[in-house]
Order: sequence, then structure tokens, then C-alpha cells
Amino acid sequence: MSKKVMVILQSGNAEKMKRFGFLNDVAGAEVEFIDECVIESNTGLMRNRQMEKMGPDSFEYTPEYIAALSSANIIVTAMAPVPSAAFEGGNVEAVCILRSGVENVDRAKAAKANVRVINAPGRLAVPVSEYTVGLIIAEMKNIARGYSLLSKGVWNNKFPNRPYNINIDGATIGIIGCGAVGARVAKVMHAMEASVLVYDPYANAAALKEKGYEVVELDELCKRADVLCMHYRLTEETKGLLSAKHFELMKPTAFVVNTARAELIDEDALLDALKNKKIGGAALDVFKEEPLPATSPFVGLDNVTITPHLAGDCSNIFDITFKIVAKCIEDYFQSGNWTNIVPPPAV
Ligand SMILES: NC(=O)c1ccc[n+]([C@@H]2O[C@H](COP(=O)([O-])OP(=O)(O)OC[C@H]3O[C@@H](n4cnc5c(N)ncnc54)[C@H](O)[C@@H]3O)[C@@H](O)[C@H]2O)c1
Repeated sequence: MSKKVMVILQSGNAEKMKRFGFLNDVAGAEVEFIDECVIESNTGLMRNRQMEKMGPDSFEYTPEYIAALSSANIIVTAMAPVPSAAFEGGNVEAVCILRSGVENVDRAKAAKANVRVINAPGRLAVPVSEYTVGLIIAEMKNIARGYSLLSKGVWNNKFPNRPYNINIDGATIGIIGCGAVGARVAKVMHAMEASVLVYDPYANAAALKEKGYEVVELDELCKRADVLCMHYRLTEETKGLLSAKHFELMKPTAFVVNTARAELIDEDALLDALKNKKIGGAALDVFKEEPLPATSPFVGLDNVTITPHLAGDCSNIFDITFKIVAKCIEDYFQSGNWTNIVPPPAV
């Protein structure tokens, strides 16, 4: 029996989605497209913020939108919110979200209606890991710093980190969080002949050891690493994971790299460590306040490389995400089992 897959389109990705031929080859998938503009509400950034803060049921939906979604067995969306009212008819089996965050759905109400919430984990793993490797090298080798000065006509090849701007080959790289991104960074660093230390209480330690990595506690990683790469997920518990006490443990030559989330590192402690040369330097793509104000103390320090939250940016991200979700739906059609299920919130 065929199943109806309702894809909610957004202006930016509508044409790409159709061109990609989403689920064209999956037998039994009856794909329909609906435009998100039927939602009587604001769109864009404001809409995303409302969805994140107040949930999908805070919007005014048209009856047509709810009816169209209710008729589907599988709903696919990127940023458009999905009203819980769509689950009432009992047709909807799953909502597949074309990103990692799942704020589009009220997970508790979905669970109650027996609707699975599916996401696309690790979809940014390739761009973010490649970017992280770029930042490590840029900071260690003064690439951005050298460019910045030379573009202003200043020829300087003697930077403060000159006495310790070592190579990745032979360095000790500490990976904090060996998930989708961290695992790829670890793999590249290992291939470049670095010693890899991993702190990750969620990972399979035996599998990491088999890859040649050393699994350690966070304090030990801080003491031994030449480069510390933050790849943890931000939750209430992980806020300030790296605090003042950790900066005291680090080598005075250590570089801290953060392409994950700013709040994972106590920003005041990081600034103190950089200003007072308690560490060698930092490369940062994420900040507590974004866009970073021109008056930020990070601007103008001679031992940081800063970029404007660019790590996940790549032009083929929609193709990567479509493939992850299309494969997940295809596997479900073949096996009857969903992968990439996001569990309901703990009560
Ligand atoms: N700068 C950017 O543009 C950008 C883009 C995408 C992702 N990110 C960030 O990069 C980081 C890594 O992303 P990822 O895809 O590798 O994440 P992931 O979920 O695959 O792994 C994250 C790691 O977080 C740790 N963790 C902490 N609390 C956890 C919990 N409650 N459950 C499970 N794991 C937990 C684990 O060590 C895990 O390995 C995240 O902070 C993400 O927000 C940044």
C-alpha cells in the first residue's frame, strides 16, 4: 500500500527540492508538496525564533494547512512548524525534519499521538569538521593573522606564538566530544600524525581506542593537549563545560578551537586566559553575542582567529540533508523501521 509523503516547501529550497527528485525512486511513496506560505504568520528569522521559544502550536494555522498535513502519513519539513492538530486524524506516522534541531514539532504531543520525530543528524559534519581543521591550521600557522596585517600593508612574520607554533604532525590534539563532527576532526588529525586524546563520556571508548586514540578525562585532556577542539553539544548541563579551572590546567602554549557553541566555554575565563597569556591562542567561530560587536574584547587580540559563525556554511547542504532524510524514509519503506528517531522529552 502506498503512503502519502507531504513535503512542506520553503521559498528558498522549493526548486532545489523538486529538482533533487525527492523520493522519486522509492516505490510506494506518493509525494505531494505544500507551500509553507499557507501559514498565516510571520516568516523567516522571526518565525524561527517564535518556533524555538514558543513551540509550533503558538502559530495561527489555516484549516487548509492542517487538513493537508493531516492527510499525510509522513510529513517532511525544514523550518516550517508542524501543528499538533495535524496528528489528530491518526494518519500521520512520522515527521521528518531536514536538520538536527526538531523545534518544528511538539515532541511530547507527537509521542502521545504515536508520531515519530525523525531528524538529519550529522548533516553538517563534513563542512564543520573541514572548517575546524582549517581553523586549527590558521591559528597554529598565523594564516589569518598574517593576511589581516598584510592586507593593511604590514609585513610581519614574527608573531607572538613564534616560539611554539608547532606542526600538527607530532602535536597532541584533544577532541572534546567525538560525535559526528569530532570524529571527523579526530580522523584527519590522526592521519596527519598527531596524537589524539578524546574526552567523550557518551562514546564507545573501546571503538575509539581501536582507532588509535587515547580516551581520557577532561582534566587530563586539558593538561596534555596542544590543541583543544570543542565539539560538544550544548545543553543545560554542558554550559560552561570549559571553565576557569580548566584554563589553569592548560599548557601556556595551548590553542583552544571552538566551532560548536560559545556557551560551552566560559567566555570570561577564555578572555582572561587569552589576555593574560595563560594559553597560546584560540580560534573561534561562535560567540555568546552574535553578530560579534565591533567593541568585543576578542577583536584586536593578537592571539585569536575569529570568524562569523561560518563553519556549517556550504552550498550543497540541502543536497546532503535531502539524501540523509530520503535514505531514512527509503529504509523505513523497506524494513518498517525508522532510524534517526529523536526521543520524546523526558518528563
Ligand atoms: N559553527 C557551526 O556553524 C555549527 C554547525 C553545526 C553544528 N555545530 C555544533 O557542533 C557541535 C558538534 O555537532 P555534532 O553534529 O558533532 O553533534 P553530535 O550530537 O554528533 O555530538 C556531540 C557530542 O556532544 C556530547 N554530548 C553532550 N551532551 C550530550 C547529550 N545529552 N547527548 C548526546 N551527546 C552529548 C557527546 O560527546 C557527543 O559526542 C554541536 O555543538 C553543534 O551545535 C556548529
